[in-house]
Amino acid sequence: MNPSQQRAWAALGLGPRWLSRGASTHEHDAPAHAMPAPANEPADSCAGPDQPVAAARPPSRSEVLAHDDTPVAAMSWSQLRAAVQDCALCGLCRGRTRTVFGSGAQDSPWMIVGEAPGAEEDARGEPFVGQAGRLLESMLGSLGLSRDRDVFITNVLKCRPPGNRNPEPDEMRQCEPYLHRQIALLQPRGILVMGRFAAQALLRTDATIASLRGRVHAYPVNGGELPMVVTYHPAYLLRNLPDKAKAWADLCLARGRFGAGAARPD
Ligand code: URA
Repeated sequence: MNPSQQRAWAALGLGPRWLSRGASTHEHDAPAHAMPAPANEPADSCAGPDQPVAAARPPSRSEVLAHDDTPVAAMSWSQLRAAVQDCALCGLCRGRTRTVFGSGAQDSPWMIVGEAPGAEEDARGEPFVGQAGRLLESMLGSLGLSRDRDVFITNVLKCRPPGNRNPEPDEMRQCEPYLHRQIALLQPRGILVMGRFAAQALLRTDATIASLRGRVHAYPVNGGELPMVVTYHPAYLLRNLPDKAKAWADLCLARGRFGAGAARPD
């Protein structure tokens, strides 16, 4: 195993101890029967055959045009940031400490979309700063990606749902134009979507994450399409070690499609 593979295995918690524990808890949205048994070996190499483009339904042209019809669709980064900060379109504004717009360079080649801020994110106004965020950073590091330079990280919801409850459909609907505008402004090379809620919202489906991951989807934006890869949420991976190998395979798939990070000066 080469050093980069070793780093990846360490970041993902894979190795002989994990393999011998074989603990299995069931994902709330992807019951064990819906998933293949964990492989004996994690997908520790990013090399492999190209993956097919998936058939899950992305937003239709009219849905995209509906986004493009809102005042949000014409906003600059600074206008968008201000609009999110002042947003009172749903009840989540009453319980928030801060809105969580997103973090990372505005020319990042990758975009990562999670679900919603948790308690630490709400307190600090930044996405993925808790335990799940630390796992995410390790995973990105294993791919040679820097959180600050290479990825713009955001969530479907910009405000914390109380008690970390699941997002409600109306909250997702109200918040969606902000995310769509972020994608249009960033124009990343690809979007990595983490977790069931984010995947279902962006792909307009109620399919399980087990059926959506492992493929490349197409997300329509700016008159074209961006490749989108779906994977498990890091908070889920912290509780479900066997699925880390699948998440690593998804990250490798994303890197194969989106390319490596931003070009760095010598
Ligand atoms: N989980 C998310 O989906 N987003 C965050 O920002 C933090 C935890």
